Amino acid sequence: MSTRPAPSATAPVRRTTAPEIARRKGGEPIVSLTSYHAHTAALVDKYADFILVGDSLGMVMHGMESTVGVSLELMIMHGKAVVRGTRQALIVVDMPFGTYEESPSVAFRNAARIMKETQCGAVKLEGGVRMAETIQFLTERGVPVMAHIGLTPQSVHVMGGFKTQGREENDWQRHFDDAQAVAEAGAFSVVLEGMVEPLAARITRDVRIPTIGIGASVDCDGQILVLEDMLGLNPRTPKFVKVYGQIGPQIEQAVADYAADVRARAFPTEDQVYR
Ligand code: KIV
Repeated sequence: MSTRPAPSATAPVRRTTAPEIARRKGGEPIVSLTSYHAHTAALVDKYADFILVGDSLGMVMHGMESTVGVSLELMIMHGKAVVRGTRQALIVVDMPFGTYEESPSVAFRNAARIMKETQCGAVKLEGGVRMAETIQFLTERGVPVMAHIGLTPQSVHVMGGFKTQGREENDWQRHFDDAQAVAEAGAFSVVLEGMVEPLAARITRDVRIPTIGIGASVDCDGQILVLEDMLGLNPRTPKFVKVYGQIGPQIEQAVADYAADVRARAFPTEDQVYR
């Protein structure tokens, strides 16, 4: 039996909290990335204020066509891995499609399960005015909620695709009402996804909680990207992504080198052999 103590017994954990993120409104920009597994999360943890275990993992990790097929169990499994791999950042776990829309009490039951099983510090859910009652129900019962408005990928089938929001100015009031509603309901911040710049700027200026932009311009209070997108692993990079690394070609080269070595009996060498 191993005598090594569990990491949580030795290494101090001091995580950013949801209220700390809320207090960053208008201050130093909030840094965030997604992560789905322990090793990448440990790297991101050194630099990010919060890490989102996004349901985008359905597409990125599991090859789904949209996030609609993601289950609660999948989110909990990846949420646990990210919490285990990190020490500092607030961990936010996405509530997947079908686990919160039905009623506030269904949402609470599933949010509580996510928080108990993963030990994350907050959940995120999609929707504005229509989810305000649920957001209030959750926050009043101890669940910090990050809201997500604008382009909401779980509604892709209703929207008819991943479409930039707010292109028509007469549509702006609806998005503004969504942002106000989630702030009044108690959300500690709100993701603005795929939204034209002037609308994102107006929401950021007039709504009291921090806005976290993804494809919503530099005017937001913080930014988030899908880690694999900014590392160059996505073969179809969206316009709003700046690619900071070319990990895809590096992985491919490493795999090709390994395959060539194995075929040539050049791996393992003396260095990798137990004598
Ligand atoms: O699931 C996800 O990765 C997200 C971000 C795009 C904000 O919701």
